[in-house]
Amino acid sequence: MPDCIRATDLWKTHVRRGVLGRTRVRALKGVSVAVSQGKTLGIVGESGAGKSTLARALLYLDPPDAGTVSVGDVDLGRISRRELRRMRPRLGIVFQDPNSSLNPRLTVGASIEEALLQHMRRRGARRERVGELLTQVGLAAGDQDRLPHEFSGGQRQRIGIARALAAGPELLVLDEPVSSLDVSIQAQILNLLLDLKDELDLTYLFISHDLNVVAFLSDDIAVMSNGRIVEQGPTEQLLRAPSEPYTRQLFEDTPVFHDRRLRYNGDRRSEP
Ligand SMILES: Nc1ncnc2c1ncn2[C@@H]1O[C@H](COP(=O)(O)OP(=O)(O)OP(=O)(O)O)[C@@H](O)[C@H]1O
Ligand SMILES: [Mg+2]
Repeated sequence: MPDCIRATDLWKTHVRRGVLGRTRVRALKGVSVAVSQGKTLGIVGESGAGKSTLARALLYLDPPDAGTVSVGDVDLGRISRRELRRMRPRLGIVFQDPNSSLNPRLTVGASIEEALLQHMRRRGARRERVGELLTQVGLAAGDQDRLPHEFSGGQRQRIGIARALAAGPELLVLDEPVSSLDVSIQAQILNLLLDLKDELDLTYLFISHDLNVVAFLSDDIAVMSNGRIVEQGPTEQLLRAPSEPYTRQLFEDTPVFHDRRLRYNGDRRSEP
């Protein structure tokens, strides 16, 4: 399978301006990752490891200081702003907090429609597409006329997913998409993500600090710590024989891991 996205040797330093002057945080120190078409790469790591920085750098929302990102055979660092804008529909992102992509004063439909304005001129066609998207994520077409506060946290995340899917992306970057939800709701959203991936032939880069969740969804896992990928490989292999001390420690610190994974897998694999 060809790569959907490939990042090579990414570096990124954040500059924070505080009362004591400027401090620099080296958030990415030579990160390389690749996701084959149709696969899911999970990124797991502690808070502050650089996961969100990586997500934003990969999509050129906050470009890296050095290194390359290629989507298919397009090097995002070598194209014009205009060409980058034209690439945007191919790349979707889902955030931890669904409220961040929903305006509380706009109807859900209006928020999703924003992502469609560029390539669908007719309002009627857009509404129809929004209805279709909402149905795809397990809501109703008529929900587009309601406001975000009328929905639960899980439903709002479904809306965030619908919005990310609106322009028909091939890649979804999911940055802690279930971390703010209760465990039972997490399972529903994870199963939805699996179904959507099959239906729409998507490629996922899935970020979480929760190893249970990452292992459930991912074909491969990259373990991130302090701005670096310390270990990466096929999920089964990493679980069976983690080679780096950091990874082993991480796995030891997550004792419910195997049970929980079996339950998730059981739910999923038992379907005909
Ligand atoms: N815009 C910013 N300005 C300054 N520092 C930043 C900025 N964004 C991130 N950082 C710092 O860069 C480092 C990596 O942050 P990042 O948000 O990428 O980590 P993360 O792995 O996503 O963490 P979390 O699990 O808490 O979401 C942290 O030390 C963070 O404080
Ligand atoms: Mg983050």
